[in-house]
Amino acid sequence: MYTNEMVESMKKVAAAREANAALEPRRMTAEEKDTLLKTYHPDYKQGEFAELAVGPNKGGKVPTELAALLQANSRIDPADVDLAQVDYDTDVLIIGGGGAGASAAIEADNAGAKVMIVTKLRMGDANTMMAEGGIQAADKENDSPAIHYLDAFGGGHFAAKPELLRTLVTEAPEAIQWLNDLGVEFDKAPDGTMVTTHGGGTSRKRMHAAKDYSGAEIMRTLRDEVLNRQIPVVDFTAAIELILDENGRAAGAVLLNMETHEILIARAKTVVMATGGAGRLHYQGFPTSNHYGATADGLILAYRAGAKLLYPDTLQYHPTGAAYPEQIFGALVTEKVRSLGAKLINVDGEAFMHPLETRDVAAASIIRECSDHGKGVKTADGIGVWLDTPMIELKNGEGTIEKRIPAMMRMFGKYGIDIRKEPILVYPTLHYQNGGIDIAKNCESGVENLFVAGEAVGGIHGRNRLMGNSLLDIIVFGRNAGKNAAAKAADTSVGALSLQHVTDFAKELSAAGIHSDVVSPKLLPDYRRKK
Ligand code: FUM
Repeated sequence: MYTNEMVESMKKVAAAREANAALEPRRMTAEEKDTLLKTYHPDYKQGEFAELAVGPNKGGKVPTELAALLQANSRIDPADVDLAQVDYDTDVLIIGGGGAGASAAIEADNAGAKVMIVTKLRMGDANTMMAEGGIQAADKENDSPAIHYLDAFGGGHFAAKPELLRTLVTEAPEAIQWLNDLGVEFDKAPDGTMVTTHGGGTSRKRMHAAKDYSGAEIMRTLRDEVLNRQIPVVDFTAAIELILDENGRAAGAVLLNMETHEILIARAKTVVMATGGAGRLHYQGFPTSNHYGATADGLILAYRAGAKLLYPDTLQYHPTGAAYPEQIFGALVTEKVRSLGAKLINVDGEAFMHPLETRDVAAASIIRECSDHGKGVKTADGIGVWLDTPMIELKNGEGTIEKRIPAMMRMFGKYGIDIRKEPILVYPTLHYQNGGIDIAKNCESGVENLFVAGEAVGGIHGRNRLMGNSLLDIIVFGRNAGKNAAAKAADTSVGALSLQHVTDFAKELSAAGIHSDVVSPKLLPDYRRKK
């Protein structure tokens, strides 16, 4: 039920709609953005980060929730694991069944490698499935990979690893073509050209979409391709430690059957880590737009095996998570809603910012509006600002919402909210891990034969990612990881398997005086009511 305050505020929003729709709020200056971020963005809350005492990032800061998992106990005692009892033997082992894992599997298969996927849930249960607004690629005449690079490099605060970002933008047009050829149903004009829109921080319209369920459409296609090729997929089976060989190279994983709790051993010549993000760790108590399995498992495994993390202290809070009704609290309200013309409006009916600032700036602006500015809209148990969706049809004509963002219309419609007629209430939601495992251009981490792709990678986007560059990176780096892991596998013979790194990490923890009662990887969030 809307509170009286919400109802009164909605009247002001409706009264100001035409004027607000015509308004072009100014962009912030670099200095204004800097001050805003430092004051309001969650990445700058020093008390929410802890210094790591062990491992390759010793001395570096990460969110406290992640620190607890990185410095926790293994789920296994290496002494109890019989590495001679190999259950799966393959060339390329892919850990994770989302878009990056699927893309890697397809390319490793193309390269002739024996490949298998293990996933703790089912194939496609991943953040890829949850992505809505689209995928970027500079494939129009007024655009180029160089312009795409500049947009993304600036949006990421000039912190992206240049060689990774360059790969991302230059291989983007081919990635779109690859998906199109596989059967992804992109939005197209009657003449067959792809329909593209803006995202926050883009200087050209280069967002390709399948309405507002782009990720689901891409995942559907990739999953079909994996299954059609009969690539083995082992569902409900989590990787709980990496296995190295006697030469310190990645050589497989210890697996846990999530249903029977049986421990299994997978031996591989190379491994691709594609485990996705961390939203289900609910950093700083934020709700999340992420899939149920997003618990940073890959970072934990890789870290214990000696891989360095890059920018693990930077997260993305998507500006527009649903703040009302509570049944969909934190769910993603795609940026495409703003691309199509909806503006962010405060309790007094004022458009308080340009709707397509980069995500970190937009999230910080909303937090400021709801805190120091005192201009948030209070719900029974929360707060938010309006995203004035009826503006979309004022600007683009009747029928636009149903045609371009039908999933949004359906999601709110289930709760009696017609987004064509009423604004929706939003607040930032934990959406993406900007940081992750440090990789070289060929996707290999600091641990030889351990390749990484997708959200588990750090450094592609710097310290903030633009919309549509994540669906892109899972394809570009997923494919590259698959190709490179297959090539390396062809050159590798695996030495004796070892879990010595797990034993050594435990000793390091003990020597640092860390005696945790936490075990990791976490695998699934725990939403049981605490006593
Ligand atoms: O807003 C969105 O549709 C999210 C897209 C993304 O994270 O790239």
